[in-house]
Amino acid sequence: MDEEKKNKEEKKKEKESLVSRRYFLESVGAGAIGITVLGGIVLSGEYLSPNVVKEPPMKFKVGPPEDYPPGSVTKNIEQKVYIIRAKEGYFYALSAVCTHLGCITNWKSEQDIIACPCHGSKFNLDGQKIAGPAPRPLPRFAMSLDDHGQLVVDKSAVVGSDVVLKV
Ligand code: FES
Repeated sequence: MDEEKKNKEEKKKEKESLVSRRYFLESVGAGAIGITVLGGIVLSGEYLSPNVVKEPPMKFKVGPPEDYPPGSVTKNIEQKVYIIRAKEGYFYALSAVCTHLGCITNWKSEQDIIACPCHGSKFNLDGQKIAGPAPRPLPRFAMSLDDHGQLVVDKSAVVGSDVVLKV
């Protein structure tokens, strides 16, 4: 009788052990499937969302004329342009991007030139090349004054080297 009871208990324990092992394996399997599905959804979302590079706007304000003293060269790093106010008071905007291979140039006040650090191109304050491999002058962009007295540069409008903004 005791033997029979013992056998029954062992079988019961074995059965419980099997059930918990099965439960464990089912849980692991469900988790793996869940992770796979979630990964698929995330990757699909990334694939379907547009891969947009956000560029700064082509037309932008650069502040009031009073911010620029006559005879000054101000580099707008974000927009890669120079805002130049001549000694006579008029304005023009030059690209700071070298026309050789696109490096960003620097204003050298002690030499009164714009110089490219990459291959040595140099430009005068009108944007004309005076040295180096750059094939073209620095483009000059249209400038205007908006209704609120703010200077506006439009990089989508390249103008001639004689175009200036008088305020
Ligand atoms: S990129 Fe300016 S000289 Fe080459």
